[in-house]
Amino acid sequence: MKDDAGARKSAAESPADRSGADRLAPLPKPDLKSARSRSKKLGLGPGQKVILMCMDRKTAKCASGKEMAAAWKHLKSRMKQWGLKSSKSNDSVRAMRVAVGCIGVCRGGPIMAVMPDGLWYGSCTPQVIDRILKEHVIDGRPVTSHLISPIDLA
Ligand code: FES
Repeated sequence: MKDDAGARKSAAESPADRSGADRLAPLPKPDLKSARSRSKKLGLGPGQKVILMCMDRKTAKCASGKEMAAAWKHLKSRMKQWGLKSSKSNDSVRAMRVAVGCIGVCRGGPIMAVMPDGLWYGSCTPQVIDRILKEHVIDGRPVTSHLISPIDLA
């Protein structure tokens, strides 16, 4: 049972009070015209697959810098060859690749993820990348042999 002071405090604190949302300064009016135009050219939007790849070549813990570079180059080439690049694709399958820094896995790389599916792959050699693009990105079937997360699908 709450005493009167506790009851008053609970009643006075709304969720916005606790998060501090009511104390935030108003946002300036954004000028996003150029960013929106560029995003449109890139084909960004719903239904698009985003392929993330660890390209932390400085620390190169999950794979050698050479392996990462080869995987990245191969991914670029295949996406173009198979018409997956978002800005060029007229098909229902659209994708873009994004190089990211260390994800924290730091072994068994090159590490790659397909979003928004939330599936992470390891040992992404050019041969494995081909399978991931064909089987997962295009056909919607994860390549379970190279999944590192979630492992219950592997
Ligand atoms: S260096 Fe690639 S995941 Fe850490």
